[in-house]
Amino acid sequence: MQYRKFGKLGIEVSAFGVGCMRFPMIKLEDGTDAVDESVSTPVIRHAIDNGVNYIDTAYVYSNQKNETAVGHALRDGYREKVYLATKLPTWMCNTREDMDKYLDEQLARLETDCIDFYLVHALNKGTWEKIRDLGVREFLDKAKASGKIRYASFSFHDNYDTFIDIIDSYDWDMAQIQFNYMDVDNQATLKGLQYAGKKGIPVVIMEGLLGGKLAKAPANVQELYDAFPEKRSPVEWAFRYICNQPEVGTVLSGVVDMAQCDDNLAIFDRCESGIMTAEEEELIVKVREAYKSRTKVGCTGCRYCVPCPNEVDIPKVFRIWNDLFLYDSKLKGNGGYKRMIAEGHDASKCLECGACEGACPQHIGIMDMLKQADSEMRE
Ligand SMILES: NC(=O)c1ccc[n+]([C@@H]2O[C@H](COP(=O)([O-])OP(=O)(O)OC[C@H]3O[C@@H](n4cnc5c(N)ncnc54)[C@H](OP(=O)(O)O)[C@@H]3O)[C@@H](O)[C@H]2O)c1
Repeated sequence: MQYRKFGKLGIEVSAFGVGCMRFPMIKLEDGTDAVDESVSTPVIRHAIDNGVNYIDTAYVYSNQKNETAVGHALRDGYREKVYLATKLPTWMCNTREDMDKYLDEQLARLETDCIDFYLVHALNKGTWEKIRDLGVREFLDKAKASGKIRYASFSFHDNYDTFIDIIDSYDWDMAQIQFNYMDVDNQATLKGLQYAGKKGIPVVIMEGLLGGKLAKAPANVQELYDAFPEKRSPVEWAFRYICNQPEVGTVLSGVVDMAQCDDNLAIFDRCESGIMTAEEEELIVKVREAYKSRTKVGCTGCRYCVPCPNEVDIPKVFRIWNDLFLYDSKLKGNGGYKRMIAEGHDASKCLECGACEGACPQHIGIMDMLKQADSEMRE
C-alpha cells in the first residue's frame, strides 16, 4: 500500500480509503433493512489488514444503518488502526442543537469516543449558507476542543467558485471532493484541488470511478486502452490518474465485495503521485473526449433540478439515456425507461414550466433534452 502525506496535518494516510456507502443491504426478520455485515465486516477488516488506514461512512448511508455496521467492523482492535471519517447530515439540521445531537448519536453508533475526520456533508452554495448561519463553525470548534472530533472537514458537490468560497471561510482540516479524469472542469475541478493543495488542506477524493461508470469502458474507450503499449484495466487507469495529482490525500472507493477490494489493494500499491508519463496524459485526454462523444447530456446527477412540479425524475431520465448510448444498448423500448413510464416519472410528463433550468449548475437546456430523450427511448 502506498501512503500519502496529508497536507498540513503531518499524518500519512493510505492511498486507498474504503468508502462504505455501497455495501449490499439485507432484509432482517422484522422487515427492517441493514447492511449485510457478512460482506462489510470481512471486507473492511481485510482492507485494514492489508494497509488501509482510512474508513469513510456517513449518518445517512444505507438508510442510516451504515455507521452501526462500520462500528461493528471496527471492533476487536480495528478502530485503533484507522482514521475514521463520518459526516454531519447537513440537510437534517434545523438548529445549532441538532448538530450536537447528531454527533453524539454518531459516536454511539460508531462505538467510539472520537471521530477522526468529521465532515459537514455534501455542501453546496445553499446548504453551506444555511449551515453556516446556524453556527456550524462554532460547533466544529467546540467539538474539536471537547475531543469528540479531531479534524473538521467538509464534503462538497457544487462548482469551483463555491468551493473557493467555502474553503476560504473556515480553518478546515480537510476537504472531500468528487474528482476523476472526467471531472477536471466539473465540480470543485482540478483547479480547486490544486488551490486546496496550495493552502496545505488535504483533499480526499470520492467518486473516482464516477460511481462505477469508469470501470466499464465503452467500446471506443476500450479501443484506446487496447492500443496503448502498457496494459491496464479501466479501473487502474482511473485511479492512476487521480493518484498522479500530488494534492490528493486519499482516494475513497466504494467497494462492494472482496474481489473489488483485492483489485483496488493491488492497484493502489502501484499508483504514486507524479507517476504518469506525457504519453499516458495524452491517452487520458483522448479517453475523456471519447467518453464525452458517447455522452448525450452532461448531467452530473446533482439533483438541483428536482423536485419537478410534475414529478419528472430528470436526473434518472438522463442517466438511463446516457448509459444506453454509452454502451450501445437498445435505446427504444428498454426496460429502465419503460419502468419510468409505468411509474409516471418519465420525460413526457414535462410541463415546460422551466423551473429546472434555472437550478441546473451545468446550464443544461433540460426541457429540450427531455423531449429528445423521450423520443429516442420511447417505443
Ligand atoms: N460526501 C459525499 O457527498 C459522498 C458522495 C458520494 C460518495 N461518498 C463516499 O465516497 C466513497 C467513494 O465514492 P464512490 O462509491 O462513488 O466511488 P467509486 O469508486 O467512484 O465507485 C464505486 C463503484 O465502483 C465500482 N468499483 C470499485 N472498485 C472496482 C473494481 N476494482 N473493479 C470494478 N468496479 C469497481 C463498483 O461499482 P459496481 O457496484 O457497479 O460494481 C463500486 O460500487 C463512497 O463509498 C462514500 O463513502 C461521499
